[in-house]
Amino acid sequence: MKVTIIGAGNVGATCADVIANRRIASEVVLVDISEGYAEGKAMDIMQCASNSKFDTIVKGTTGDYSQTANSEVIVVTSGIPRKPGMTREELIGTNASVVKSVIENALKYSPNAIFVMVTNPLDTMTLAALKISGLDRKRVIGMGGALDSARFKYFLSKKLDKPVYDIEGMVIGGHGDTTMIPLIRYATYKGIPVTQLLSVEEQEEVCKSTMVGGATLTKLLGTSAWYAPGAAVANVVESILNDFKRLIPCSVFLEGEYGQEGICIGVPCIIGKNGVEQIVDIKLNDKELEKFIASANAVRDTNKELTNI
Ligand code: NAI
Ligand code: 2OP
Repeated sequence: MKVTIIGAGNVGATCADVIANRRIASEVVLVDISEGYAEGKAMDIMQCASNSKFDTIVKGTTGDYSQTANSEVIVVTSGIPRKPGMTREELIGTNASVVKSVIENALKYSPNAIFVMVTNPLDTMTLAALKISGLDRKRVIGMGGALDSARFKYFLSKKLDKPVYDIEGMVIGGHGDTTMIPLIRYATYKGIPVTQLLSVEEQEEVCKSTMVGGATLTKLLGTSAWYAPGAAVANVVESILNDFKRLIPCSVFLEGEYGQEGICIGVPCIIGKNGVEQIVDIKLNDKELEKFIASANAVRDTNKELTNI
């Protein structure tokens, strides 16, 4: 099973490292535009193999897409990340042209691949990838909700003082500080609704921390985060390669689902060998639906910037 990761920076290389260490694929090809960078990252990861005991082959190339041929999954992390004070939306101009060139190159060699988009602004870049590639919407998946949900579960576990793996929770909507929607009503600790365990103020604190989770790390690190994003991408890739059919909130092109069409936005998806196998329709109450509509409108606004690609 072969995976290509375009962009061997913080998120791309971390994703390759997680895929190798968890033996999710037999081969990973890292591609970068910066001379020797992907080769260096691949070599460094491969020098973990004897200690970490994995046999995934990780290779790196400076822009030679022929080495990516016949990948089953292509992950796109190439582009510039956020700096402190920047929103994900401010990255649009630079990243849209990067996404265009890498998608065109990758498709030439892997026409049957499923694309997992990571580059920000995520929902807009996922739409751009869909338009540029002309692929069926099932095969272009935006990874945002998997990360936001992991952060939601982290903040819930801290507030509840319970192990994170005993907690379930999902974040839908846009992958943006003001557009994501942590679904607190559906979050549980071992099946117990967290709304029965936390005060309204505590629930609000958790949701707020989740929504600014990326910005908090960007401020602390001076650039955006990579460990949790890399692991979240690897989880999506694993579900595709193994046809696990995991329920993961992903950004996908809507054709009427959740009352929206013509945009990519985070909704609960079953992720399997064909990409998005199903969009799961969960019942939103009036308040949640109102937030989803506002989120969709914000994503639609950002998408207007795409007209020149
Ligand atoms: P980074 O700067 O560490 O890595 C980006 C890499 O892309 C660099 O190595 C750069 O040389 C490469 N690159 C640029 N243009 C390229 C091209 N045309 N072809 C091949 N490689 C090219 O950035 P980082 O932290 O890895 O973030 C990457 C992207 O992912 C950013 O847009 C960031 O905002 C986004 N991101 C998205 C998340 C999500 O949940 N969707 C989470 C974290 C980051
Ligand atoms: C994150 O959420 C910036 O999208 C990036 O960490």
